[in-house]
Amino acid sequence: MVPLKIAVIIGSTRPNRFGDKPGKWIYEEAKKVEGVEVELLDLVDYPMPFYEEPMGPSMLNKKYSNDVVKKFSAKVDAADAFIIVTPEYNHSTSGVLKNALDHLFPEWNNKPVGFVSYGGVGGARAVEHLRQISVELEMAPIRNAVHIPGNILFPIIMGQAQWTAETEAGLMDNAHKMLTQLVWWGNALKAARNQQAQ
Ligand SMILES: Cc1cc2nc3c(=O)[nH]c(=O)nc-3n(C[C@H](O)[C@H](O)[C@H](O)COP(=O)(O)O)c2cc1C
Repeated sequence: MVPLKIAVIIGSTRPNRFGDKPGKWIYEEAKKVEGVEVELLDLVDYPMPFYEEPMGPSMLNKKYSNDVVKKFSAKVDAADAFIIVTPEYNHSTSGVLKNALDHLFPEWNNKPVGFVSYGGVGGARAVEHLRQISVELEMAPIRNAVHIPGNILFPIIMGQAQWTAETEAGLMDNAHKMLTQLVWWGNALKAARNQQAQ
């Protein structure tokens, strides 16, 4: 059977970011799920300009002018489901992640997305914004998410604590719930897309 392809997107790119820690962790956890293939899409590796195409992505038919956008488009197009790892910047997601989402349209359509977030209140406000954005991109945002709270995040970014196996153990239950729902929706929507393509 062709495996379900999950792309994990790390949504912050600044030096000393926290985002790569939960990003790499959820990537490793997702790889343990049977019947899936997982790819890490770190936005550091996709330095896209601020959106500057003369038309919106829903009208471009995947004909982008920028080579990095073309590369990102191919990766997103190949995926069946997404895990977005997001920081919370001013009660929303990061500009770099919003810009990456804005760049594409058909590549996101009819695919589910789950979230791993972090912040003072677990990045919940960023995820709520992302759920609205993902509906506009014709995605299916799933309910269960991993929210990493401030009492884990802030000591780590201030150098007073480390990201450890214990940190991961505390997040595992929610991660499994999120992954279970993501795979269910991923397989259901993949079957529906395949049927539509016939
Ligand atoms: C521009 C900016 C705005 C922020 N706004 C919030 C916020 O609204 N809520 C929150 O919980 N944390 C906020 N923070 C703190 C971030 O949660 C924290 O810096 C986190 O490490 C950012 O993710 P990153 O390290 O992956 O970039 C903000 C940080 C930055 C840089």
